[in-house]
Amino acid sequence: MTGDPAVPPGGPRHPRLLVLGANGPTGRRVVQQALDRGHEVAALTRHPEAFPIRHERLRVVAGDATDPDTVDTAVAATDAVICTIGAAFTRQPVQVYSTSARLLVESMTRHHRRRLLVVTSGGVDTGHQPRGALARLSRSVMRDHVGRTVYDDMEQMEATVSASDLDWTIVRPPGLTNSPGTGYAVADTRIDGPVMSRDDLAAMLLDHLDDDRHLRAVAAVTTPGLRVSAWDMLHHEVLKR
Ligand SMILES: NC(=O)c1ccc[n+]([C@@H]2O[C@H](COP(=O)([O-])OP(=O)(O)OC[C@H]3O[C@@H](n4cnc5c(N)ncnc54)[C@H](OP(=O)(O)O)[C@@H]3O)[C@@H](O)[C@H]2O)c1
Repeated sequence: MTGDPAVPPGGPRHPRLLVLGANGPTGRRVVQQALDRGHEVAALTRHPEAFPIRHERLRVVAGDATDPDTVDTAVAATDAVICTIGAAFTRQPVQVYSTSARLLVESMTRHHRRRLLVVTSGGVDTGHQPRGALARLSRSVMRDHVGRTVYDDMEQMEATVSASDLDWTIVRPPGLTNSPGTGYAVADTRIDGPVMSRDDLAAMLLDHLDDDRHLRAVAAVTTPGLRVSAWDMLHHEVLKR
């Protein structure tokens, strides 16, 4: 027998997928799971030499997601886009979320591509106050100080995407961990649950490529029951940056 058993005769059943932020810890999981499901995948990264996945249905695209030509060429060769672009917390203005979103919307509109999923963060939802004084304090410190410029730019991304005519879904996870996936929960706009497995986030994004339950809407996601200590979260997800 020849060929990939995941691909039926006559070619792949799944849309060609472009992943932005493909070389991040979530992006790599999206790419691997998409390949496992039978997609053809284009993985955009500024560091192709450091991208660890190789596959006959994978094309690694070298480039910056804020470069119009890079985005346009990549979009022209795909059917659907998942954006897991991320930026480190910084005091400097951040523009990578909003710029890549604008370029994606323009390019997808031009090339008549419809399905776009972008990842922002539960931290964008300032109307939601977590339970407990400590949780509220830590959220305020993250949103208004440590991560202010990142969250501001995520808000811009959400505004750009939600104003488009595309079939978009904005996915807001809580803090992400590398814990193995145990299954995700998804709700409109808001969900309780302090952390999410990146395995589960990747699965959610791929499951929703052809699921219209959160079409042109915000999906709040989490891994129910997953807990990590505040120290582990700080150590792995904030101090690493
Ligand atoms: N970490 C958390 O706890 C957390 C919580 C809530 C939401 N989120 C969001 O969830 C998503 C995934 O987060 P993550 O922690 O798994 O990944 P991440 O560490 O934020 O990495 C994302 C990737 O984006 C790529 N990237 C950044 N700027 C780029 C540019 N100009 N052009 C092309 N690629 C660029 C980088 O890859 P290259 O350098 O190879 O290009 C990077 O590896 C992000 O949107 C993040 O903001 C994260």
